[in-house]
Amino acid sequence: MLSTFPSNAESKLVNAIRENDNAVISLVATLDEKIIGHILFSPVTTHPSTHEKGLGLAPVAVDPAYQSKGVGSKLIRAGLQMCIDQQYDYAVVFGNPKYYTRFGFQKARGFGLQNEYGVDDQFMVVKFKSLPVGGLVKYVSEFSLFLV
Ligand SMILES: CC(C)(COP(=O)(O)OP(=O)(O)OC[C@H]1O[C@@H](n2cnc3c(N)ncnc32)[C@H](O)[C@@H]1OP(=O)(O)O)[C@@H](O)C(=O)NCCC(=O)NCCS
Repeated sequence: MLSTFPSNAESKLVNAIRENDNAVISLVATLDEKIIGHILFSPVTTHPSTHEKGLGLAPVAVDPAYQSKGVGSKLIRAGLQMCIDQQYDYAVVFGNPKYYTRFGFQKARGFGLQNEYGVDDQFMVVKFKSLPVGGLVKYVSEFSLFLV
């Protein structure tokens, strides 16, 4: 999986999130006992705070040799179903709207939700039960350490 991203920042990020017990949902896709894909969800908070429980989808990665074969879609759909099963209210993601709208994500800005990184159209949200009324959505601090 190291080859999926141009640097090892994502591997370090995933390790740090796991070590800090912030990996709420973590799934792997395997083929012949080899890991070919992975997805992680960690908690997000809104400021000002609200009672809704949200998760951030990041990262999702598929081994380049197996991309565009539906593996990423399966991981995302299974992950979102687990969010619902675990009674989460919403999930957010940074990603290409063309890809993530197929899973129900919509532009978060349309719901008054901002992020810390100044990302606009590519910051997206999917509602399971209810959305915060608006505000700044913050990922766990590991993201600031490894991805800025
Ligand atoms: C993004 C990623 C997880 C998608 O997984 P995948 O198994 O390749 O995707 P799927 O087979 O489920 O879906 C393929 C479709 O997604 C599109 N797609 C894949 N990556 C995309 C991206 N970054 N932006 C927009 N569209 C993308 C493909 O063009 C294809 O479109 P089509 O169905 O219209 O033909 C995978 O390509 C990947 O690991 N990319 C590198 C890491 C990355 O950018 N991760 C996301 C940020 S954390």
